[in-house]
Amino acid sequence: MDIKNLMVTGGCGFIGSNFIRYLLEEADFMGKIINVDKLTYAGNPENLSDISERYPGRYVFQKADICDAVRMNQIFRDYQVDAICHFAAESHVDRSIKRPEEFIQTNITGTFNLLETIRQNAGQFRLFHHVSTDEVYGSLGREGYFTEETPYRPNSPYSASKAASDHLVRAYHETYGLPAVISNCSNNYGPYQFPEKLIPLMILNALDGKPLPVYGDGRNVRDWLYVKDHCGAIWTIMRFGDKGETYNIGGNSEMENIVIVEMICDILDEIIPVSAGYSRKKLITFVKDRPGHDRRYAIDFSKLQKAFNWTPRESLATGLRKTIVWYLENANWIERSRSGEYRAWISEQYEQERSPS
Ligand code: NAD
Ligand code: TYD
Repeated sequence: MDIKNLMVTGGCGFIGSNFIRYLLEEADFMGKIINVDKLTYAGNPENLSDISERYPGRYVFQKADICDAVRMNQIFRDYQVDAICHFAAESHVDRSIKRPEEFIQTNITGTFNLLETIRQNAGQFRLFHHVSTDEVYGSLGREGYFTEETPYRPNSPYSASKAASDHLVRAYHETYGLPAVISNCSNNYGPYQFPEKLIPLMILNALDGKPLPVYGDGRNVRDWLYVKDHCGAIWTIMRFGDKGETYNIGGNSEMENIVIVEMICDILDEIIPVSAGYSRKKLITFVKDRPGHDRRYAIDFSKLQKAFNWTPRESLATGLRKTIVWYLENANWIERSRSGEYRAWISEQYEQERSPS
């Protein structure tokens, strides 16, 4: 697909910034990127400061809220946007449990607003790629996998808001012929992930000698995908996917949370030993479970694999090591992301919810 002016929403967040980097540095993308981000606590323009210096003609940043219809229309017209890859969202389940309003606003109203902007300026528009999550399918027992046919059964305000946005995208395709594709992906990890999600939180706490708060019995299972593999899958779908279709993306890396935390401790103990015989696993603390905590996610991505020969490149072992090394080498980034609102959030979590179970 020959995209000239690609709007990336949420491009200063974790996956969005990796995606922009991937498109400009590694993919066969020749167009221009317009990164539209409101810069919430999770958005950090520093994630792309080198990119904006190195690609001045092909990368622009617009600080804007996707819920602002006037701004979206303006940006859409000014840059003659012919495709959108939509990442912008409130993305953290724990936050959605405490304060759901922002999730409804950004994830549902914001997506609706983008769809309306496209509908009103349909002319040269080619593709809306909606980045979504496997959490819309709900929770699995010990057996089985989510396929593209699995009925939606979201359990958290976060997943419910993403489910709603998926339905809107689908409806705009069916009703107005809007050229849209949806991808539903499993848990991502890798560089630039805000340290409130499991993997970066555990890496940083373990380095600081702080407790490693594992919810419930630690036996909840997630399927983990290295972020660059997710970016490659999105780009594959953008180029070759059929409009109106949904594609699942997964990592082939199902793991219980407790095992992930132990793996992180082992890798850190190997790279930076504390003292002879000491293991950071001693920091693991079981805490009160998350309400409505989904037990298991597992993705069947055979549709994507068969159609386009896509498969993840990193295993959990290789991806986790790369991720840990990245956090060790980026102390300044960590320091800055952990200032301000992050500190307030984490201390609130510790005080109210993370008392040992
Ligand atoms: P993130 O929280 O790291 O980043 C979200 C970005 O969106 C931030 O830069 C933030 O400033 C921006 N944003 C938030 N509200 C906005 C608004 N109203 N207007 C404009 N920008 C706004 O999230 P992430 O982990 O990078 O996730 C990106 C997308 O991928 C989300 O849609 C999420 O649902 C989906 N997803 C994430 C995962 C995962 O494991 N992280 C897995 C599957 C799907
Ligand atoms: P998270 O990274 O928040 O992603 P999601 O909820 O979208 O899957 O959590 C991943 C898993 O790790 C999930 O089962 C909850 C668990 N978890 C903990 O046990 N402790 C923590 O401090 C966090 C943040 C998550």
